[in-house]
Amino acid sequence: MLAHRFHRTLDVSAAAGLRRIAVRTGLTPPTLNQIHTLRRHPATRIRLLLVPLLSRHPVGFILYQVIPPEAEIFDMGVLPEFKRRGFGGCLLRGALAGLSAAGVSVCHLEVRVSNHPAIALYTRHGFTPDRIRPGYYALPPEDALCMSCRLAGPPAQAFLS
Ligand SMILES: CC(C)(COP(=O)(O)OP(=O)(O)OC[C@H]1O[C@@H](n2cnc3c(N)ncnc32)[C@H](O)[C@@H]1OP(=O)(O)O)[C@@H](O)C(=O)NCCC(=O)NCCS
Repeated sequence: MLAHRFHRTLDVSAAAGLRRIAVRTGLTPPTLNQIHTLRRHPATRIRLLLVPLLSRHPVGFILYQVIPPEAEIFDMGVLPEFKRRGFGGCLLRGALAGLSAAGVSVCHLEVRVSNHPAIALYTRHGFTPDRIRPGYYALPPEDALCMSCRLAGPPAQAFLS
């Protein structure tokens, strides 16, 4: 795996990077105001994936909210030219490891029922389908598949130190 680095906080150029990835991946890009609001919420986590040997700009992002013992993944994306190189899995693994260490026991998400690449990614990382939410998405209208993943929590020694 190439070197990568996560940014926990978002400066203006990072916010622009997130929006750029969202547009390029066909997701609805959050406005700068929405990103600003998200940043100010203490439960929000935004991680950008940098692969300096490949690109000067972030190649992927994941946006989620942590309120132990639960968390929710809102969105994630990898630039089209960098798909199927393991970067989506890298972002998801990093997020889930952080959630587990934070004492989260279950992580939820919603995904369009037709989004087979994302469903395959989530399934590969331990998410299982819970239910369908009819008409959850607009533009175009579509049902959501609700998925969740049980997490093991922090290692026992974390409670001893
Ligand atoms: C979903 C997404 C983030 C996956 O990113 P990625 O970097 O391509 O994923 P990875 O390379 O880490 O793939 C990991 C595994 O996910 C599954 N997967 C990913 N893309 C897939 C595809 N197009 N078809 C089938 N399985 C796929 C495979 O099991 C894959 O493992 P493999 O390559 O060894 O077979 C990316 O396709 C994307 O940005 N899509 C558009 C935005 C989006 O739909 N976001 C999710 C919103 S809920």
